[in-house]
Amino acid sequence: MKAIVIDRYGTPDVLRFAEVETPVPGDDEVLVRVRASSVNPYDWHYLTGLPKLFRPAFGGLRRPKYHILGADLSGHVEAIGKDVTRFRPGDEVYGQTAAGAYAEYAAVAEAELALKPANLTFEQSAAVPLAGFTALQAIRDKAKVQPAQKVLINGASGGVGTLAVQITKSFGAEVTGVCSTTNVDMVRSIGADHVIDYTRDDFTAGPQRYHLLLDNIGNRSLSEYRRILERKATYLASFGQPENEWLGPLWFLARMALLSPFVGQKLTTFTARPTTEDLHTLTALIEAGTLAPVVDRAYPLHEVPDAFRYVGQGHARGKVVITI
Ligand SMILES: NC(=O)c1ccc[n+]([C@@H]2O[C@H](COP(=O)([O-])OP(=O)(O)OC[C@H]3O[C@@H](n4cnc5c(N)ncnc54)[C@H](OP(=O)(O)O)[C@@H]3O)[C@@H](O)[C@H]2O)c1
Repeated sequence: MKAIVIDRYGTPDVLRFAEVETPVPGDDEVLVRVRASSVNPYDWHYLTGLPKLFRPAFGGLRRPKYHILGADLSGHVEAIGKDVTRFRPGDEVYGQTAAGAYAEYAAVAEAELALKPANLTFEQSAAVPLAGFTALQAIRDKAKVQPAQKVLINGASGGVGTLAVQITKSFGAEVTGVCSTTNVDMVRSIGADHVIDYTRDDFTAGPQRYHLLLDNIGNRSLSEYRRILERKATYLASFGQPENEWLGPLWFLARMALLSPFVGQKLTTFTARPTTEDLHTLTALIEAGTLAPVVDRAYPLHEVPDAFRYVGQGHARGKVVITI
């Protein structure tokens, strides 16, 4: 099968379009004919090996444990292992996997998959899982957003932000999104009550106070963030950009953890986890018309390096998708 493979950390130039062996599904695995994937900052970390301190967690000091990247996937079931009970050949599925989706086929654990939302294309479905788990678990589990709360989402136009705006609205909260001029109309169209264009206005300077600040960017100081929070409020950092090539955001997060016990506001972070149950929750939200992914553009499989270059510029509008 054709795939994009990685032999060492580096820029998108290290990614190779190659012919590799088609995987054979294990007993509890599903062989998926991949139709679409997407690019997440998560894939970017495995590509670049940054932050360097995390390389053991990525699986190696010189190259990641995965030979094929691509966490999000949608496609149809080609074959199933003997213990698989929930799927049959021909089913249209989607999910987040460690199997590597920048390939024509992937052998995916049954638990990582759900039936694809009936009202989405393969491309749209592949835009959902990783960013969807992140947005859902941030808003529902970590921040426990309540109706009428005021929520500010910094980075409202990205993969996580566009889903977080919609999920937060579905909890009955009042949402303010922060993005650049080109994305103001889009962020408003997906449900934000207020939009702050960061190229014109400083969102940390206004009079408004928030109960939750979901931060997908991490470009301001803790004191600036705290200034716009209510006394009993939450600052939730989701960002993982390598502000420092060795430590990434660790220094910022460490200062936050040290300060949090001494202030009224809760300063915290989280790591999203893929679960079958939450994949079903995302499907239900999508099929009810409550949640819809925003797809910026699609690249064919052999142009995955270009997709990474585009996402690496930091201004993707919603998700960048790979079609296979
Ligand atoms: N904690 C977790 O488990 C977890 C899981 C997934 C992702 N993450 C992290 O969450 C962050 C967001 O992920 P993502 O997938 O949403 O990233 P993304 O789609 O690549 O984010 C791109 C967006 O960032 C916006 N942006 C860039 N500079 C900005 C600024 N100064 N102010 C406001 N917005 C700005 C861009 O909007 P404009 O073009 O309008 O500037 C663009 O829409 C990443 O750091 C990622 O590592 C964490």
